[in-house]
Amino acid sequence: MGQITLQGVQKSFGPVHIIKGADLDIADGSFVVFVGPSGCGKTTLLRLIAGLEDVTGGSILIDGKNVVDTPPAKRGLSMVFQSYALYPHMSVRGNIGFGLKMAGLARDEINHKVEAAAATLNLTPYLDRKPRELSGGQRQRVAIGRAIVREPKAFLFDEPLSNLDAALRVQMRIEVTRLQKQLGTTAIYVTHDQVEAMTMADKIVVLNAGKIEQYGSPLELYERPSNLFVAGFIGSPKMNFVTGDSAAQKGAATIGVRPEHLKIERDGTGGWQGTISVAEHLGSDTFLYVDAGPLGMLTARYIGELSLHAGDRVSLVPDPARIHRFDASGNAIRN
Ligand SMILES: Nc1ncnc2c1ncn2[C@@H]1O[C@H](COP(=O)(O)OP(=O)(O)OP(=O)(O)O)[C@@H](O)[C@H]1O
Ligand SMILES: [Mg+2]
Repeated sequence: MGQITLQGVQKSFGPVHIIKGADLDIADGSFVVFVGPSGCGKTTLLRLIAGLEDVTGGSILIDGKNVVDTPPAKRGLSMVFQSYALYPHMSVRGNIGFGLKMAGLARDEINHKVEAAAATLNLTPYLDRKPRELSGGQRQRVAIGRAIVREPKAFLFDEPLSNLDAALRVQMRIEVTRLQKQLGTTAIYVTHDQVEAMTMADKIVVLNAGKIEQYGSPLELYERPSNLFVAGFIGSPKMNFVTGDSAAQKGAATIGVRPEHLKIERDGTGGWQGTISVAEHLGSDTFLYVDAGPLGMLTARYIGELSLHAGDRVSLVPDPARIHRFDASGNAIRN
């Protein structure tokens, strides 16, 4: 079991208040991703759950038991970091089994667990190699293996894939997701990567300056962001925001429309008119950055190739069903 509950969790470093009262319910077996700008407190919150930092206030419950006074080793959690320090002089087998050896398990039992983890991670052929004889992705899998053999109640991942190149990241993203589902172990995963957050998470926590702005499934956050911050943070390229008369007509202080929900018309007269400042042709997508005068710069996305270029005039027509409305405080207006 690995159900984790945060109740009013606070953290200050000296006079600086970093985590400002976090409440969160993480269901057993779920995959929860923390996202937010650099410095918003993602690592700090993870370290508080792990017990590597003491809370300044509030409770952290694991399977219903408050663990704020429990040392990290007794919380039953395994952490995987961005820089996975493997022991260079030890084989893969030695690295994966190191924690079990320290815990005093019998040799046969260690071998059994290490071999099972290696099989799950496709590391069996490499058990006798040293870390320097492995690729980056294989090394990261060894670090994950070390976490798995401890059979934790939950995995805590802090940007575990950010040192890998783009192709390997995609491969590892899929492997970690598959592995977590297979093991059924609760996972909390910190990332900067939008695609990782959207594809891996059962639920995403959006943090901003030490506060939880929204907690929900990826599609909930995409379709119903509760405020301007979440609306602007989730989705890439980011949502367009328009204020003034165009927003007031819809009874809002600000309206938001995602680039993929703007219909692009050549020489049109409806919607928002502007001149293409930059056109990006990716083959699969065309992104237009349109100077719309007083409305500012707008981004539009077309799925597929669209032969429009810098200097062309276009009008962008928002899909009326996909307009997000926000009040003067930045909170979503629900109909
Ligand atoms: N030990 C510490 N002492 C003082 N301040 C700290 C300490 N650890 C973190 N902070 C501060 O707390 C804030 C949150 O840091 P944290 O590492 O949690 O951010 P983060 O969201 O993980 O950022 P990043 O995306 O850059 O990794 C930062 O302003 C940081 O400077
Ligand atoms: Mg961090």
